[in-house]
Amino acid sequence: MKKVAIFASGNGSNFEALISSNEINKLADINLLICDNPNAKVIDKAKKYNIEKFIFNPKDYISKKEYEDEILSKVQNIDIIFLAGYMRIISKNFLEKFNGKIINIHPSLLPKYKGVESIKRAYENKEEYIGVSIHYVNEEIDGGKIIAQEKFKVDYNKSLEEIIEEVHKIEHKLYIKTAIKILKEEL
Ligand code: GRF
Repeated sequence: MKKVAIFASGNGSNFEALISSNEINKLADINLLICDNPNAKVIDKAKKYNIEKFIFNPKDYISKKEYEDEILSKVQNIDIIFLAGYMRIISKNFLEKFNGKIINIHPSLLPKYKGVESIKRAYENKEEYIGVSIHYVNEEIDGGKIIAQEKFKVDYNKSLEEIIEEVHKIEHKLYIKTAIKILKEEL
């Protein structure tokens, strides 16, 4: 069984999709949530599950290195890290320790629309297709080799909110499907 940690900063819908998947639970022990936002909704969601949590506020640390060192001490036995809306750049030092073992999901067809408000920007630009990417994490924001993508043709009769919802549904399915492949070492 692979040991998995999820890093999240916000709502936690992708966290919940992964941790509640029966198939993932057969392959992995998701036993740690790392959260850099003490007010994040993901913390409430995590209460339902038997999972260790490390919740911190970066402002309480003098440097990124200091809080990352604390995270590193928590993830010593972890094999794979899934980022699920984790809003911090991971340092080179940290990445080197988990070479190729950190995966992220992003709500755009990368390399387009890196960064924040990706769906909104794609929608406002009237992109024909909007989608989701899953990729290995490197030092660049939403950079790293793409593992999986899925897209749909945008119906502009729908509101931005409806499209955002559609994207999130795809995210949950694609993250589960891709995580299973990663855990089975098929990727
Ligand atoms: C998702 O859109 C994910 O792709 C991005 O941040 C968002 C997190 O949503 N990286 P949630 O917290 O999983 O609901």
